[in-house]
Amino acid sequence: MDGRPRVTAFSLLSVALLLCLFSGRSSCKPVGKCAGNKPCQSPRPPVVLVPGDLGNQLEAKLDKPSVVHYICYKKTDSFFTLWLSLEQLAPVAIDCWMDNIRLIYNRTTHTTSSPPGVNISVPGFGLTSSMEYLDPNKQGVGMYFFNIAQALVDWGYTRGDDVRGAPYDWRKAPNENKDYFLALRKMIEEMAKNAGGPVVLIAHSMGNMYMLYFLNQQPQAWKDKHIKAFIALGAPWAGVAKTLRVITSGDNNNIPVIRPLKIRTQQRTAVSTSWLLPYSHTWPKDKVLIQTPTKNYTVMDYKQLYFDLGFEDGWLMRQDTESLLFDLTPPGVPVHCLYGSGVPTSESFQYNSKFPDVEPTVVMGEGDGTVNLLSAMQCKRWVGRQKQPVTLHELPGNEHVNMLLNVSTVAYIKKVLF
Ligand SMILES: *[C@@H]1O[C@H](CO)[C@@H](O)[C@H](O)[C@H]1NC(C)=O
Ligand SMILES: *[C@@H]1O[C@H](CO)[C@@H](O)[C@H](O)[C@H]1NC(C)=O
Ligand SMILES: *[C@@H]1O[C@H](CO)[C@@H](O)[C@H](O)[C@H]1NC(C)=O
Ligand SMILES: *[C@@H]1O[C@H](CO)[C@@H](O)[C@H](O)[C@H]1NC(C)=O
Repeated sequence: MDGRPRVTAFSLLSVALLLCLFSGRSSCKPVGKCAGNKPCQSPRPPVVLVPGDLGNQLEAKLDKPSVVHYICYKKTDSFFTLWLSLEQLAPVAIDCWMDNIRLIYNRTTHTTSSPPGVNISVPGFGLTSSMEYLDPNKQGVGMYFFNIAQALVDWGYTRGDDVRGAPYDWRKAPNENKDYFLALRKMIEEMAKNAGGPVVLIAHSMGNMYMLYFLNQQPQAWKDKHIKAFIALGAPWAGVAKTLRVITSGDNNNIPVIRPLKIRTQQRTAVSTSWLLPYSHTWPKDKVLIQTPTKNYTVMDYKQLYFDLGFEDGWLMRQDTESLLFDLTPPGVPVHCLYGSGVPTSESFQYNSKFPDVEPTVVMGEGDGTVNLLSAMQCKRWVGRQKQPVTLHELPGNEHVNMLLNVSTVAYIKKVLF
């Protein structure tokens, strides 16, 4: 990595610091401008990065009454990386992994919990480390927010200070992440105060749904004061067709050693999967999403689908979460909505008579390879429905995750920040 940008940033910082010291005012911060008698304002708006589904690390600590296989750990002295650690996805080891990462749904409380003796934590709130690379031991495998974080640092930002991460338990939907939103609000307030100006949110994929939910909960005065802009990358505003395959027959994301039907058991327990099923406010109501020799399922047939899958908890999960963002209420902050297109994207699934325990034939449509274009574009609803500007920006040829690495995305972010 070329060290020059960092040297430049460091020199600027030193100069700013010296100017502050010699101006004799104690309120100056090292990175601040010191013009007039106003409090120092950072030349850079602080940035919060918000990952998508599977997009940040999870850790586990075990003290389990029993295990599914003798090779599995029953008790650990400390927290270890549960996601992502590629070793744990190897055959047999994956059984241990699935028994630790799964959630158990309680039909009385409509909440989920970990299996007995499994304690899950989300490491690194406020830091970017848990989302730059997914596997902390394998830098390079699973590069995620690194490229954007590094670009910010090259422009003068400091990790953990004016660029921070907001990881969360992506297995759950916002209704079960109340503490996360409180912590996020507090962090944004602190960052805005330190910088003397509002914060820019940069979210990817499901992280955008989390941010929309968060912004919908905040008073307008709070948003006006604390949020400069919301940069939404690859947002599934109206859900994603691919989730239907996940709950029906499982999806190994083309990792050949993982059998889809096996991972399905775990994938179904994640409430966020059911939350992201395509929404009837956007998908055509007569569009067949799942086809079997005897039945077709549209966006109106989820109850039947869940029952036919023998996954009735899923229907409860859907009902618990469908209303969280059903109205797609405008966020009430300036929005930059960036999305990839031109990559074949799962649109519907055809199963033979072995439904649902078989791999489907996938019918492809338009999108970024994960999010259907129809869904990604729904931010257009907000144009003219909020007083803050809403900008849509299509990135032709950009795949869902690779869009975070593309120079055009990084250039766009720079334009918004400066
Ligand atoms: C679900 O939660 C209720 C209320 O906390 C509790 O009484 C019940 O035992 C739980 N059910 C299961 C299956 O754990
Ligand atoms: C999980 O671990 C955290 C951190 O060590 C601890 O504060 C918490 O009480 C633990 N929760 C359970 C249910 O054991
Ligand atoms: C399912 O839909 C397809 C077209 O989308 C149609 O050809 C087929 O007859 C339908 N099957 C059933 C069982 O309704
Ligand atoms: C980066 O994005 C641009 C604009 O959308 C696109 O033309 C280009 O192919 C992308 N590059 C890569 C490597 O995906």
